[in-house]
Amino acid sequence: MSFIVAIDGPAGSGKGTVTKLVGKRLGLINIDTGATYRCVTLAVIQKGYSIEEKEKIAQLLDEISIEFKRENDEEKFYLNGEDVSKKIRTLEVNKLVSQVSHIPEVRAKMTDFQRKMAEGKNVIMEGRDIGTNVFPNADVKIYLDAKPEERARRRVKQNEEKGIECNFEEVLENIKFRDYNDKTSDVAPLKQAEDAVYVDSSELSIEEVVEKIIEIINKKKKE
Ligand code: DC
Repeated sequence: MSFIVAIDGPAGSGKGTVTKLVGKRLGLINIDTGATYRCVTLAVIQKGYSIEEKEKIAQLLDEISIEFKRENDEEKFYLNGEDVSKKIRTLEVNKLVSQVSHIPEVRAKMTDFQRKMAEGKNVIMEGRDIGTNVFPNADVKIYLDAKPEERARRRVKQNEEKGIECNFEEVLENIKFRDYNDKTSDVAPLKQAEDAVYVDSSELSIEEVVEKIIEIINKKKKE
């Protein structure tokens, strides 16, 4: 038996941070499904394939091994036996991952892998299509959203902290563009599952979102 909490929503909604914190507080294993797409993307880059080489990329899926391990309270991803937890966060991967994640063969394989990762465990899993596609029968489904302006403000703040200069209007336009693409995509469009609880984090602090989600989970557990 396993207990599954699915957290979906757009980039910048705070999903990653909140999922980690709720997982720690409730003793659930946190599975970052975006990282699985990042591992495939890294493998594509290492092979030197271009995004147009869809057949080669599909074939590559049978040659690589991706493992998820929990070490000293940290979630690690291994690609072909190498710890790539840091390498999958580079700009190079960032730039290509969305396109790789839109290849149907890649999605099919990663969906299988994500289901296997959760087998027999109590997990909190974040992504774009967890409640709609990966675990349509998840015990708890949350759709975490925030207004585009607030997500842009958070992104600008993050960039400033990293010493990267950027323009609010440009970031906002980019977020709106990505939202449009994500929601109208032919492959796994971003949408709220009918039975998901909608949480808008625009006016809430991280701690307030964490509290709200824990409340929703505890309420479901009692049902
Ligand atoms: O959340 P992230 O930035 O690590 O996600 C990386 C990419 O993978 C992003 O382009 C969205 C995509 N993704 C997806 O299509 N489905 C998921 N379940 C998780 C991520």
